Amino acid sequence: MDGVKFDHLLYGGDYNPDQWLEHPEILEEDIRMMKKAHINTVSLGIFAWSRLEPQEGVYDFDWLEKIIDHLYENGISVNLATPSGARPHWLADHYPEVLRVNADGSRNMFGVRHNHCYTSPAYRRKVRAINQALAARFDSHPGVIMWHISNEYGQDCYCPLCREAFRGWMRERYSSIDEVNRKWCTAFWSHTYDSFDQIEPPMLHGENSIHGLYLDWRRFVTDQVIDFYRKEVDALKDGGAKKPVTTNFMYNFKDYNYFRFAQYVDVVSWDNYPTWHKGPEALTAMDTAMQHDTMRSLKNQPFLLMESCPGPTNWQSVSKLKRPGMLEAASLQAVAHGSDSVMYFQIRKGRGGFEKFHGAVIDHYGKDDDRTYRECCEVGQDLLCLEECNHTDVKADVAVVYDWENRWAVEESKGPRNKGMFYKETVLKSYAAFRRQGLNVDLVDMEKSLDGYRIVAAPMLYMFRAGFEKKVRKFVELGGTFIMTYWSGVVDENDLCVLRGTPGGLMDVMGLRSTEIDALYDGESNRLIPAEGSRMAGEYTCRNLCQLVDATTAESLMVYGEEFYQGTSALTVNRYGEGTAYYVCADAEQSFYDDLYRMLCADAGIRGPLSCPLPEGVEVTTREGRNAEFIFIQNYAGGEVKLPVSVKAEGYEVIFRSREAAADEEIILQRFNTVVLKKIL
Ligand code: GLA
Ligand code: ZN
Repeated sequence: MDGVKFDHLLYGGDYNPDQWLEHPEILEEDIRMMKKAHINTVSLGIFAWSRLEPQEGVYDFDWLEKIIDHLYENGISVNLATPSGARPHWLADHYPEVLRVNADGSRNMFGVRHNHCYTSPAYRRKVRAINQALAARFDSHPGVIMWHISNEYGQDCYCPLCREAFRGWMRERYSSIDEVNRKWCTAFWSHTYDSFDQIEPPMLHGENSIHGLYLDWRRFVTDQVIDFYRKEVDALKDGGAKKPVTTNFMYNFKDYNYFRFAQYVDVVSWDNYPTWHKGPEALTAMDTAMQHDTMRSLKNQPFLLMESCPGPTNWQSVSKLKRPGMLEAASLQAVAHGSDSVMYFQIRKGRGGFEKFHGAVIDHYGKDDDRTYRECCEVGQDLLCLEECNHTDVKADVAVVYDWENRWAVEESKGPRNKGMFYKETVLKSYAAFRRQGLNVDLVDMEKSLDGYRIVAAPMLYMFRAGFEKKVRKFVELGGTFIMTYWSGVVDENDLCVLRGTPGGLMDVMGLRSTEIDALYDGESNRLIPAEGSRMAGEYTCRNLCQLVDATTAESLMVYGEEFYQGTSALTVNRYGEGTAYYVCADAEQSFYDDLYRMLCADAGIRGPLSCPLPEGVEVTTREGRNAEFIFIQNYAGGEVKLPVSVKAEGYEVIFRSREAAADEEIILQRFNTVVLKKIL
């Protein structure tokens, strides 16, 4: 596993003393309140460039050093940022090329943040200079434990510099323009290119009908942003930096392929802002859990929760107050899934600006007797109980394929359902079906190995790339259980349709050919009913997409209940080599996945860590250390739940329980409660 291990679980968050330099008494009070809350780490200087370099080439780092010193004296470490996430006015005035250009060709004016061109030599030069200077001054400071590179890199730039860089990237990827024409199928609508010089990004008012172009643009943007990031890191290293680096990733983020990006960070970190209390809590928890597990799976290592909100999140459509206990549950959920930290945005609420009403550990009120602050103190206490979990593993027998490039392709492909393909939701159904049995789940992309997993689900894998079909063949041959769904193996990595039958390269493994796919309007549905003699007993609804298949060697377990394809296969199983391959033909409801996956796990002898079935809304996740495992049990159901786990008799030690929870002859959890059991291995 390896990866970056800190001395303890990190607790803290983004801190912006640069907004309070005229108020030394506030800085003093902040430190007192941080210590009281058991905060041990802050992220500093993320948006402080104009304070750090008030005029071009004139650095002022003294104020920062004083703060780092003072924090250090008080036992608080620093995750020091490079400031490229927002720039001073003078920088944009002196070098207008640093401002980002939108997909319609318009150049942004100075303002907001994250508004930079990631190709601009001027921007790269200025970032390099300040990063190097920061590293030279601060990396050796004992209070600095890591580097926070920029902030939430996101979106695209379409400026002339980026467009030229894209053409350069294309020239390297393809041997000739003829090859590009073939791979992008440009004969369609007479869009054949005569030379690389004609290639432009998919701009709003330009060429946005070639799917191969769109995919390569997304790959280029990923590479270009990674390149920008790596230059930031190089600058730190040239300034003598030796501490680990990270950059904060985001929720459900599509723009850049994070599996690729993650190869270049020392530790993955991400920012988590679920809309708690909007819908059923258990669904929000499941969705959030999948994000945590995706982040953990990027490097197969513990990650850091870099930001989360202690109170209401002011940029969401409704700034909902967190109900009592929610903060604890959300914070410990991250730790359960492999986070070695709980960090917030922000330590102190800003006085003005865009985020003045964003939740914070310390309110404008500024005293330690408010509810949010008290709950932050409790989370600080909780983490002290969980120290043993620091940098322990989360191991999984089952994996769900979640591939960025597939997502790019499936959502842009034009048909079969431009109203929504629901790729992420489809992945979530498979994920949830495993999780509801208390199993740890890895998320893998098509480049990852499938070795070591017992069951792999590959929902809506429209694109096959990176030799995925060969991995699947071997996986099944050697005895694995593989689940594929409708709309899989349809195109190659350039979005060119597979000829002579789909799923491409796997028809014999699946024992069928998918023939046609019926798309349903919103509100329409079909039914899945058991085939004669099938082990599947229930009846389920399906929506959105119904794949029709011709089974060759596969056996039907369920058939459609309606329509002209009534009675034809809707779920099949095929034996291949030592293993089995299932094909789910339609976008079935969650309970279908739950029942199917429960059956498949039972067949494979895979069980969750607890001896009892899990009540609805209860999450179980296991972290594993060298000689002990830690079972996190959390309640996201509407009310109290009971689990018949006899803690002592079954050999568990309770290392943590929420104040109102009981863990003795049985486990009793109130809403949002957590219990963590330890078992010596
Ligand atoms: C993002 C940013 C932070 C802050 C928070 C507010 O995650 O990284 O700087 O704006 O959102 O929720
Ligand atoms: Zn640009």
